[in-house]
Order: sequence, then structure tokens, then C-alpha cells
Amino acid sequence: MSAVTTNAPVQDVIELLRFQHEQIRDLFDLVGKSSGRAREEAFHRLVRLLAVHETAEEEIVHPVARRALPGGEEIVADRLAEERAAKEALTELYGMDTGEPEFLARLDRLRDDVLAHARAEEREEFSRLRDAFSDAQRRALAGAVKAAEASAPTRPHPGAQGAGANLLAGPPLAVMDRARDLIRDALK
Ligand SMILES: [Fe+2]
Ligand SMILES: [Fe+2]
Repeated sequence: MSAVTTNAPVQDVIELLRFQHEQIRDLFDLVGKSSGRAREEAFHRLVRLLAVHETAEEEIVHPVARRALPGGEEIVADRLAEERAAKEALTELYGMDTGEPEFLARLDRLRDDVLAHARAEEREEFSRLRDAFSDAQRRALAGAVKAAEASAPTRPHPGAQGAGANLLAGPPLAVMDRARDLIRDALK
């Protein structure tokens, strides 16, 4: 079964983030090969997942990597620069019609950049951070990331109310701000 349709089975935050890399890759593929309404919906799922995922890494993984890894300062600066560029590209894509030809060209460029970024994270951070968290922390942080993801609806729907209901009504940067609040609340 594709990672896109599989619920994350993992109780470990590093494994969860690694699993989300697979989901992100599959969603890029789904956006590319679908059309019309289906492409729009797949793109909205990709925006939501990327927003939650990158925010979770910025709140949870990068601060620890910066402190705990030799050369961590530099490694994290590189990853943050890539994340900033990806957010800008995502915001531009969000403002486009998913049916225009330029959309797919830009999507492909973003896909290549995001997947290269994910490989660098796995190689330089994830595989070296296993001992940086206790088992209990890994479980608690996985729960926080899942809660942030779950509170972001796939699409805003009329009449939806309450926290997170309109998470996707705004542009990606607003989604990231909201996800950051949710993760910080969970970390308190
Ligand atoms: Fe990242
Ligand atoms: Fe990542």
C-alpha cells in the first residue's frame, strides 16, 4: 500500500518524520499524475503535510541536532536555508492554478529540492540523533506531531468551527504558524 493512504504506524518521532518523507514523495507523484479537482485535493494534502512536517523538524529535530552533533550549527543552517527556499516555492505554487503548465514545472523543481533536503536530513541528522531522545520523549514527540497533523483538515469545509478548522483556508505560511503553535503547546 502506498504511504499516502497508510496511517503512520510509528510511535517514535524520528521514524514518524522518516515515514512522512515517503508520504511527501508519494504525494508529489500523485499531484503530478492527477488532474482537475483530484490534483487540487492532492496538492492541498501535500501543502498540509509539508507545513506540519517542516515545522515539526524546526521545533523538534533541528534544535537538538544543533546542540548535539559535531558541526551541528552548520548542518542545521544548511537545512534551514533549504526549508526557507521550499516554503517560498510552496507559497508561490499555492497562488497558482494547479491546471496551468507552469505549475507542473515548478512542482517538479520543488519535488527535487524537497527530496534532496529529506535525504540530507536522514543522513546527517536522523541517523545520528537516535540517542539524543529518551524512549518516552520519542513517543511524546511523535504524539505531538500526529496531533498537529490531525488537527489540520484536508480541506476547509463550510460550517467547520474550532481550533484548526480553517487551517488550510490561508496560505502555507499561515498553516505553518498554526502547526508551530500546536506543536509548542504539545511540548509544554
Ligand atoms: Fe526538513
Ligand atoms: Fe524532513
